[in-house]
This record gives sequence, C-alpha cells and structure tokens, in this order.
Amino acid sequence: MTDFAATKAMFDLPDGVIYLDGNSLGPLPKAAGDRVNDMMVKEWGQMLITGWNKAGWMALPTGLGDRIGRLVGAEPGTVVTGDTLSIKVYQAVASALELRPDRKVVLSDNGNFPSDLYMVDGLLRSLGPDYELRVVAPEEVAASITEDVAVLMLTEVDYRSGRMHDMKALTELAHANRVVTVWDLAHSAGAVPVDLSACNADFAVGCTYKYLNGGPGAPAFIYVAPRLADRARPALSGWLGHDAPFAFDLDYRPGSGIERMRVGTPPIIQMTALSAAMDIWDMANMTDVRAKSIELTELFISRLEATCPELELASPRDPNQRGSQVSFRFTEGYAAMQALIARGVIGDFRAPDIMRFGFTPLYIDEQDVERAAGIMADIMGNRLWDTPEYKVRQRVT
Ligand SMILES: Cc1ncc(COP(=O)(O)O)c(C=O)c1O
Repeated sequence: MTDFAATKAMFDLPDGVIYLDGNSLGPLPKAAGDRVNDMMVKEWGQMLITGWNKAGWMALPTGLGDRIGRLVGAEPGTVVTGDTLSIKVYQAVASALELRPDRKVVLSDNGNFPSDLYMVDGLLRSLGPDYELRVVAPEEVAASITEDVAVLMLTEVDYRSGRMHDMKALTELAHANRVVTVWDLAHSAGAVPVDLSACNADFAVGCTYKYLNGGPGAPAFIYVAPRLADRARPALSGWLGHDAPFAFDLDYRPGSGIERMRVGTPPIIQMTALSAAMDIWDMANMTDVRAKSIELTELFISRLEATCPELELASPRDPNQRGSQVSFRFTEGYAAMQALIARGVIGDFRAPDIMRFGFTPLYIDEQDVERAAGIMADIMGNRLWDTPEYKVRQRVT
C-alpha cells in the first residue's frame, strides 16, 4: 500500500492552504530546492560543460522518461522528456500523419485543450490545403472514426469537466480503421492508471508540471509504441534526435527508438526538479492513487451537493468516467473561486463558468476535503463571493 502520509510529508505546502489545483501546477517537493541547488553549485558550477557526461545530464531525458513510463504503462525505453506539451503534440501528430500518407484528416473533439487544436491547425496549414482538422463532440468521436481519417488525436481526460475517453476501445476502433492514435495524457499521468502498452496506443504525450509535480515550465514527455519507434519520422528533426549528434553530419539521420524524438538541448535545471518529484512517485502505486482519488472526489461531490444548491456538477457522476478532478458550474464561478483562494482553498476557474478542483492523494487527504467543503459552503451560503474585488479578472485564471 502506498503510504500517503509519507508522500504528503514530502511536499512543501504553505500553512493553512488546501491545494486543489495540482491538476494545473503541482506543489513543490521538499527535496527539489536542495537537489536543484546541488545540481547548480556542484555540477554546473564545478563541472561546467563536463557535466553533460560526468553528471549524466545527457541521459536525463530518457532516464526520466522511463520513470514516467512506469506510471502510464509504457515499456522501458519508449518515453523521452523534453520541450513543451504543445510542441510534443505537434511532433506526435506530424509523425503520425506520415505513417498514413494516403489520408489527410486529423480527427479530434471539442473537449480537447485548445492548444492541441491550434498546434494541429498550424501543422495542417503548413502541409497544405488538402489537409483537414475535423473536430466533433466527444460523444461523436467513435462514430467519426472513418476510413478517411489518418490520425485520431484526443486528450484522454477533459481538462474542464474531467470526463474520460475510453482509450482502449477508441484505440481498437481506430486501428480497425487503420487510424493512428495520439493520446494527450496531460490530465491522466499521475491522475488515473494508464496502460499505453495494453491499449496498444501508438503515440502519447503529456506534461510533468501538473500531477507529476515537476514545477512550472517542467518538460513534456512523448511515448512512441516500440513497434513504431524505428519507423516514425520525428518531424521535428533536431540535432539531439540525430543518430550521431556529435558527428555533426549535414544530413539528418534519425536516432534509434525513442531517442529520435529528442529535439534540442534539454532543460537540466528543470529536469533536476522533476527528478526530485519522481522520487515521490517512486513510492506510489497508481492503483492506490486511483482508489484514494475516487474516495476524495466522491466525498467532495457529496458534501458540495448537500450544502451548495447553486452549484451544478459539470463532471461525470460515475467516478469511472472521470479523471482526478471535479468541476462545478456556477455563473459567478470566477468570483467564488477568488473568495475560496482568499480563504486558503486553491482551485481554478475555466471560462465560461467552471470551477475546477484537482484531487491528488499524494498530498490531499479526507480532512483537507472536509475543510475545503466547509469553507465552500460558507462562501456560497453567505454569498461571500459577491464583492467587487473578487470579480476583477487576472491574467491567469
Ligand atoms: C490537455 C493539454 N494539452 C496541452 C497543454 C499545453 O501544454 P504546454 O503549455 O506545456 O505546451 C495543456 C496545458 O495545460 C493541456 O492541459
């Protein structure tokens, strides 16, 4: 059994704060500060450029990839970290499209994160007017997997509602129609058990600053199924994905396996912080995390529904259909969230009216949920959100 009291003790959370926004930005692992400081002073400071070899910096992207891979059911050697998620979406979809050169349609849904759609729109514009991004409602995805589709690109857990797609069933359906799949695991990795290998997924991408707690700007990751890894052209063919980067050949020759999905110089400071976060993940088992996450979300929903009639549940009621977040609709959701934050309960707001709360068993327990629900009941029952200061929109919501 995962010892959640032990994992909670490994995070540096401000006193009095109940942090229900780990689905957006995970909190600081206590070990990260010293780890990063050591890396800077002892490695960067003393080793200078020799750190790439002596401190193993060059191997960090794949080493971290394997540690993340364990959480998402990826075979060793199939995940690499680097770049941002938007970039990795572009790379995965571009690579996937090249595997179906006879088809020109990328299928996605309107619950997808806008950046995924923007990136693919940009890619398809560069490829030419024959290409099409087809966006349907989430419940229409299965029926829209037709034989003209080259790539199915979906985010498994909807960032607003937490609704979850059935990765295994949709991947199977896609393959039956010779469609290549790209799964975005931004709201899945560290949130719900994922088994990329058992689902026979083709490509997957995700970020490490949400449930994985790698810190603001932490790198993304990409997975390529072993059966495709030496076949997929990386599309973003940077020098560190070259077979022999230090040969400085003028012609690009992709490296073997997942190494070819690397692009440029990895962010070592950020990856060092991520490695401190992954030490905590090494203590956790995703089956335990999921069981606890369901307990916490069920408790939160039942408390809020009993005390806050103004709120409408925007997440699926069936816990098996949602990720590790709970969202409620409320027309004054922005102001209500500001009032909550002022009382130390941190969630976030997604336009037009969604109040979003992430549940992260590594550092959130039942007492936190009970306290947060009590504060919410006070704010809603006494209209404490109804003041001008809570209605001024900030840049990041
Ligand atoms: C599902 C999903 N995809 C893509 C992104 C964009 O990621 P990045 O800003 O790291 O490029 C996000 C960011 O929150 C996201 O939630």
